[in-house]
Amino acid sequence: MNLHERPRRMRATPVLREMIAETNVEARHLVTPHFVVGGSGVEHEIGSMPGVNHVSVDKLVEEVGRDLELGLKSHLLFGVPENDEKDARGNAALEEKGAVPEALRQLKKQFGDDIITITDVCLCAYTDHGHCGFLENGTVINDPSVEQLARMALVHAEAGCDIVSPSDMMDGRVGAIRTKLDENGFTNTSILAYSAKYASAYYGPFRDACDSAPQGDRKSYQMDPRNSREAVLETILDIAEGADMVMVKPALAYLDIIVKVREQALCPVVCYNVSGEYSLVKNAAAAGLVDEAAIVRENLLAMRRAGSDLIITYHGRDALQKGWI
Ligand code: PBG
Ligand code: ZN
Repeated sequence: MNLHERPRRMRATPVLREMIAETNVEARHLVTPHFVVGGSGVEHEIGSMPGVNHVSVDKLVEEVGRDLELGLKSHLLFGVPENDEKDARGNAALEEKGAVPEALRQLKKQFGDDIITITDVCLCAYTDHGHCGFLENGTVINDPSVEQLARMALVHAEAGCDIVSPSDMMDGRVGAIRTKLDENGFTNTSILAYSAKYASAYYGPFRDACDSAPQGDRKSYQMDPRNSREAVLETILDIAEGADMVMVKPALAYLDIIVKVREQALCPVVCYNVSGEYSLVKNAAAAGLVDEAAIVRENLLAMRRAGSDLIITYHGRDALQKGWI
């Protein structure tokens, strides 16, 4: 083996470093989340997530148009219903006239195949108890929840969604969604599975944004942060059930999981740079503790270096607009 005694030789100039860099982050690697509300003319900042807005469908179309000019072509939609629309089973999630299906139709009408639409498929924003499935005697039950999630995915597919993305962590939901989509003729609608999703404190700002904090916690369905082999199991199961892409979430505290999942999966691997990771950086930057540009670049590079093909992140717009990547 050729041992380089002087590795600094290859770090001497910016051009040399650029020439041999192993990893990069480009616009095509980034997915941008949006929080879609009902009504029109709504565009207001989410308190816990500086720079991220609640938007109504009309404003969303404008926002996506601006994003597209920056090169951001992949968009992940979360529905944020009013409190009085929530019930025990999250039935508002099946409403064809809901904000998400309406957004899907408008985005497709406006941008066609120039963009990719992805929807979060989960019940927690729509249930009055805030859990990702049905609650029975204080327990989140699996199979009836899965049926509801499959119905929700179908509503999104019918509205023109390109990729549905179940984030609930119920067992068997990828297979159930695949079957439901296929039975209804949506064989070309893809599934991005939140495969290794941990019960994490990093979702705090998001739950504020969606008003979806659960009664109790999600530890009976989201993964235990102490485990990593289980992430491989979840990933293998999701791929066997028909996932086209798999996800690790959160990203930064779980880079080892991204490495492991990357080793197992032949399909694209996605990570979610979640709300807590985002807001910590924004607040630290606002307090003058860190250089936001450098921190964001370093974080995104770390996710790519660990093996993520795609990164779902709230930093995308700033990163491109301000030339951070
Ligand atoms: C819904 C969902 C959550 C996130 C994405 N989908 C919250 C949760 O599971 O509590 C978190 C996203 C983020 O924190 O940015 N199941
Ligand atoms: Zn959920």
